[in-house]
Amino acid sequence: MSKKECACYDERDCKTILLTPEEIDSITTRLARAIEETYKDSPKQLVLVVILKGSMPFATDLMRKIHLPLQLEFMKVSSYGVGTKASGEIRIHLDLLREDLPECDVLVIEDIVDSGRTLSRLTQLLKNRNVNSVKTCTLLDKPSRREVPFVPDFCGVQIPDEFVIGYGLDYAEEYRNLPFIGVLKPEIYS
Ligand code: PRP
Repeated sequence: MSKKECACYDERDCKTILLTPEEIDSITTRLARAIEETYKDSPKQLVLVVILKGSMPFATDLMRKIHLPLQLEFMKVSSYGVGTKASGEIRIHLDLLREDLPECDVLVIEDIVDSGRTLSRLTQLLKNRNVNSVKTCTLLDKPSRREVPFVPDFCGVQIPDEFVIGYGLDYAEEYRNLPFIGVLKPEIYS
């Protein structure tokens, strides 16, 4: 499908199509190969920790391309800044409940890194639980929005500071089911 042929019902709410389904597919394939290369010789259990809700489509596509034994876990977290503090706090709505974390290589799966607060705090929290290793994989990265230093270990693509929707990403909980990633028209949210 070309960028002009994304004839999905909500394409009309998009200013542009940032990533077509085919582009997303090739990104997930590239990430899966890099992930395999990183973990193929590790004796530990690979655990993908999917951060709800936005990462779900990305995680389901990505995990099926990783040709290694792996297990799946879910977390739901939200971050909020605290005044002028550098790192803010993280609220855990759904936690990772397993006791074998020292035997696990955890790979956190995110749809997007924005301020960096969520993954910065979450990776620290997991390290404090004595996980064997913690790495992060994000489909999208907006480095221009960083408020705390954070560099994902695996990154699909860096994008400009635009309001993106689709393939898990929402505006007011809508648009997550779009098969592409688009830039929402400003008149929709302003
Ligand atoms: C998004 C995204 C990350 C976080 C990134 O989640 O999935 O978890 O924001 O932002 P940050 O780098 O500024 O911390 P969101 O809170 O929108 O929840 P959702 O996935 O349920 O839509």
